[in-house]
Amino acid sequence: MVAIKDLALSALLMSSALAFPFQNPFKIANLPKPGEKPVPGGSPVSICDSTQPQLLTLKELVMTPNPPERGANLTISGTGFLKETVDDGAYVDVDVSYGYIKLLHQTFDLCEEVSEVDLKCPVKAGAYEITKEVEIPAQVPPGKYVVYARAYTKDDDLIACITGSVEFTPNGVIKFDLDA
Ligand SMILES: *[C@@H]1O[C@H](CO)[C@@H](O)[C@H](O)[C@H]1NC(C)=O
Repeated sequence: MVAIKDLALSALLMSSALAFPFQNPFKIANLPKPGEKPVPGGSPVSICDSTQPQLLTLKELVMTPNPPERGANLTISGTGFLKETVDDGAYVDVDVSYGYIKLLHQTFDLCEEVSEVDLKCPVKAGAYEITKEVEIPAQVPPGKYVVYARAYTKDDDLIACITGSVEFTPNGVIKFDLDA
């Protein structure tokens, strides 16, 4: 099974949007897709389905280095506010595509995954500040990845929709673009 921490990483760092500047050399600004809103902090992460109420407000997300690099550690720091307590039974649907290929669609137990950031269910309503260091393997195949992660309570209320895409180029450079 694909480790959720890798996906969580993916979701975070790819909740970005990768760029193909050469497809539109005249593009001046990166415009988000409808329903997507960049998260403050300059990371490539966006909120998706933003017209729907979400229990988590991501206030800021900062990545170092930004953009992330293959074969390096990435530090992700985020602040957010959770409106309602999240109990056992919460889950997260993750979709990853690689180029035009659907690489993965999988559902994970959210309460198992929050242990990665030293939380456990019930995750009480309130303000959170989280820092996580993850290593991005140098062996990640080059290409464009797009990730959607949608987290729900056990009653199917939307906790958060996070999206983004990242392109790992063969030489290890990553480009981001919110218009992915
Ligand atoms: C990433 O961090 C870990 C633990 O802090 C360290 O062992 C590892 O060497 C680091 N990797 C790189 C590429 O800096």
